[in-house]
Amino acid sequence: MILIDGKKAAAELRAVLKQEVTELKAKHNKVPGLTVILIGDLTPSQIYVRNKEKSANEVGLKSEVIKYPDSVEEKTVLEKIRELNSDKTVSGILVQLPLPKHIDKQKVIEAIHPSKDVDGFHPMNVGNLSSGYESSIPCTPLGCYLLIKKFEPNLNGKKAVVVGRSNLNGKPMTQLLLKENCTVTITHSKTKDLKAECLEADIIVAAVGIPELVRGDWVKKDAIVIDVGINKTDKGIVGDVHFEEVSKNARALTPVPGGVGPMTIACLLKNTIDCFKRSQI
Ligand code: GUN
Repeated sequence: MILIDGKKAAAELRAVLKQEVTELKAKHNKVPGLTVILIGDLTPSQIYVRNKEKSANEVGLKSEVIKYPDSVEEKTVLEKIRELNSDKTVSGILVQLPLPKHIDKQKVIEAIHPSKDVDGFHPMNVGNLSSGYESSIPCTPLGCYLLIKKFEPNLNGKKAVVVGRSNLNGKPMTQLLLKENCTVTITHSKTKDLKAECLEADIIVAAVGIPELVRGDWVKKDAIVIDVGINKTDKGIVGDVHFEEVSKNARALTPVPGGVGPMTIACLLKNTIDCFKRSQI
């Protein structure tokens, strides 16, 4: 079994992006800028945002974090987004999720101009992705896709099973695999026989948020297994895949942590740079 090292792949991607930023700076005399809005004091969100800022600085992006208390009014956030939409020094805007209950997530997502939507959550980008047009692609599925392609460049005709149908992961992951000519099955909590579906798969992407759901006897010998899960349990952080069991069967597997997570952040930087490049044309 080969361990797919997301930490290493992310470091390699960041090195490429850093070089790209240097070249863009020489050409345009400015660097791409990422602005992250963080609302409230949820610890995981704070850690994610700190990591995003650190990585952005590492590759030479201009990065800014705007923090609001939990009690901030929705209209204050929407006004800030509108201001950032017309700020030429800002290439990408990300509002860290989840949001407090009194703030409408969809309104916030739709307020971000699609050309600055580094999350790829705006309906315009969702539609463009599913139509096969150029778009921002959600960072986590993009990271999974790059890891799969690095390991297996030709996905033509492969059977892929995506476990989970979220807008954040499952649905965009399906689009990316379809684009690579995979035959994709998207499964979810109402799927009749999840084990049987997984046993058909050359590629499994588990993004469902259930600790260690995918077991060793769900996976056929040659499968590539990508674990998107980050679940807090009594034994610490575990993925959606039972690592020990699946590592005995799969051809390749991503660990948790150190698999998809680092790639997600590197892809956010990539999306910011891509938004900048599209804005310079
Ligand atoms: N919270 C957890 N993952 C994400 C993500 O990919 N984007 C945003 N905006 N918030 C998140």
